[in-house]
Amino acid sequence: MRRFTISTLRDLGMGRKTVENQINEECDFLIKKFKSYGGKPFENTTIMNAAAANIIVSILLGHRFDYDDPVFLRLMGFINENVRLVGTPMVMLYNTFTSLIRWLPGGHRKINQNAVEAQKFITETFTKHKEQLDINDQRTLIDTFLVKQQEDKSEFSSYFHNDNLVILVSNLFAAGMETTSSTLQWGLLLMMKYPEIQKNVQNEIEKVIGSSEPQSEHRKLMPYTDAVIHEVQRFANIVPTNLPHATTQDVTFKGYFIPKGTYVIPLLTSVLRDEAHFEKPNEFHPGHFLDSKGNFVRNEAFLPFSAGKRSCAGENLAKMELFLFFTRLLQNFTFQALPGAELDLTPALGFTTPPMTYRYTKRLTNDHDQRYDLAVIVDLVEEKMFNCLSATDPKTTFPYDMQHNLE
Ligand code: HEM
Repeated sequence: MRRFTISTLRDLGMGRKTVENQINEECDFLIKKFKSYGGKPFENTTIMNAAAANIIVSILLGHRFDYDDPVFLRLMGFINENVRLVGTPMVMLYNTFTSLIRWLPGGHRKINQNAVEAQKFITETFTKHKEQLDINDQRTLIDTFLVKQQEDKSEFSSYFHNDNLVILVSNLFAAGMETTSSTLQWGLLLMMKYPEIQKNVQNEIEKVIGSSEPQSEHRKLMPYTDAVIHEVQRFANIVPTNLPHATTQDVTFKGYFIPKGTYVIPLLTSVLRDEAHFEKPNEFHPGHFLDSKGNFVRNEAFLPFSAGKRSCAGENLAKMELFLFFTRLLQNFTFQALPGAELDLTPALGFTTPPMTYRYTKRLTNDHDQRYDLAVIVDLVEEKMFNCLSATDPKTTFPYDMQHNLE
């Protein structure tokens, strides 16, 4: 299934010009949305999730959604809530003592409900695709999967069945949305925290790109911005526990014997914060990726996408998204905290670790260099965020509903 996914994503333009154009179009919508608040405070998690989700959604379904589309908000809400719930103590207890905890109320039950709801939506969607399927015009990953399903059943039926399609689509949706969006949110927060670094990025954008549309090939001409994006990923460390793996054979590692079939959690924190590889592992320091002449330098411990045969299948897509969204936002806006606001870099709880939720407000508009200044109000603390999640009624509201977070 991994091989099918990677080759289909590649055929559909992942990491190439086709997707680059899609990302740039999405940037237009994102910038319009940011500008539309006209000075009123807004919470950006939902918007960033929607922008990142739209890229993977157009690869999967062949179209994008409006940021306010209720179906889209609902779907993102299920995924977002589940990613957060996986990090809660009750779900950790459930994973350890399943047969006991399953009888108790708590987040583990909500996770299942959310997964069922999301899968219902996906099943309805691909049923529609099935009705309109044209073998000679495969535009989406779902089309390609359905064509495979119709081919030689004896060879493919064990993989290309409906249940696998539902799981594949929901996994790609979750993997493609949450990770990219969390990283970008960290990027904006860190730019507010370190305005001088933000200014350096903007100067480089001005020098290399000016007011034209950022393209992937600009990246190699922009060592400072490249270093900042790498450092955002390293510092943000958004998948600290990685995905769980298991040994396929007996292994002896650093003197420890690990039998075949042992559950292994290869912590990414151990490399991303390794003091043997990073001078200031717990600080945000773009110099980790720059030499004394300002050239970009790689670091072998930079592994936010993990390593090996099961490393991130969307790495190329993610890198393109991060570069284009980040440069485009900083080309158009300056992000800054309201006077007196303290920017807390403590991550939120969850399987992935985005920053805690902030609301942005546009403070100054149209300053002389045509950028918009955005100010941040430090507001929702983590605890409050979880109150808001548990108060969610799945039938009528969405966990990260923008209205919910607006005052
Ligand atoms: C900043 C963005 C992203 C980060 C940091 C990230 C990170 C990761 C990590 C750490 C893993 C686990 C690898 C392992 O098990 O060793 C993973 C797996 C995966 N990612 Fe990403 N990812 C990102 C974006 C994306 C995007 C945009 C997609 C969309 C195509 C994607 C698709 C996947 C898939 C399908 C897997 C499972 C691979 C497998 O099990 O074989 N990721 N990602």
